[in-house]
Amino acid sequence: MQRKVTKAVFPVAGLGTRFLPATKSIPKEIMTLVDRPLIQYAIDEARAAGITEFIFVTSRGKSALEDYFDHAPDLEASLRMKGKDDLIEALEPTNMESGAIAYIRQTHPKGLGHAVWCARRLVGDEPFAVILPDDVIAADKPCLQQMVEAYEQTGGAMVAAMEVPPESTPSYGILDVAEDMGRMVSVSSMVEKPTLGSAPSNLAVIGRYILTPSVMNHLNDIGEGAGGEIQLTDAIAREICAGEPVYGFRFNGQRFDCGSKAGFLQATVAFGLARDDLRDEFQAYLRDMVALAKAAQ
Ligand code: UTP
Repeated sequence: MQRKVTKAVFPVAGLGTRFLPATKSIPKEIMTLVDRPLIQYAIDEARAAGITEFIFVTSRGKSALEDYFDHAPDLEASLRMKGKDDLIEALEPTNMESGAIAYIRQTHPKGLGHAVWCARRLVGDEPFAVILPDDVIAADKPCLQQMVEAYEQTGGAMVAAMEVPPESTPSYGILDVAEDMGRMVSVSSMVEKPTLGSAPSNLAVIGRYILTPSVMNHLNDIGEGAGGEIQLTDAIAREICAGEPVYGFRFNGQRFDCGSKAGFLQATVAFGLARDDLRDEFQAYLRDMVALAKAAQ
């Protein structure tokens, strides 16, 4: 099996109900962290990892995503006329080469596993990455790049993993660890959203995967799992049962759950403070806010 990963699937067909009413008309992935939509962070991370084919699994109401990655000749001409070269440069990462990006529809929101399965024909017979854009990861070396480098050594399937407090395990897919090698663990099974106290570890799967095409066959066969959805975790667990190696990868970086309001706000603060052009003003504001809040206690 080849170990070069050039395709990535972006499942963006979810309803984003935790952000209603905003997501009534805006795709969650277009929501903005400082000045870039979530999807831009995901695409930048994929590019850094060597991805050249981008497969979006979309749904009704997500056309803003397609427009975002299209050329905007009128806008560019107007910026050029005004001499705003810096803004033209800022648009550069939003331009995709013709044919590099494909959109496929998930007609019913049957879960993450089903969304990935919708991309099976475009993925073909190659290993592929899956990126969930609402998991944003701040890292010196982008998370997927770390994983692709590790995958070139190991092969198999690989999921990004991080330790979570025991009380949070029911919110995640959790790994049962066969062997802990530090950065990597080999996985003996996986369970999606275990009930409190039943998790096999506190090592949780987050939204970065490198998968082999055989996972599509398992997705084809499995029924509904946790929450009545077709779960990607269940299909990966089947890979293990079929004797295929699956690894958990402890990435370096900080993950923000931008699918939740609290996580999105935390990411906004962290990414705002990381920006040279905003830090001083923003930091001073936050300091004042904290002082005011303390005084009010
Ligand atoms: P979430 O569990 O965050 O669901 O999906 P959601 O619908 O996006 O948001 P909430 O929970 O209603 O607020 C995790 C990822 O899987 C995709 C989502 O778009 C998101 O990237 N997904 C989920 C699909 O593409 N299709 C689905 O049927 C479900």
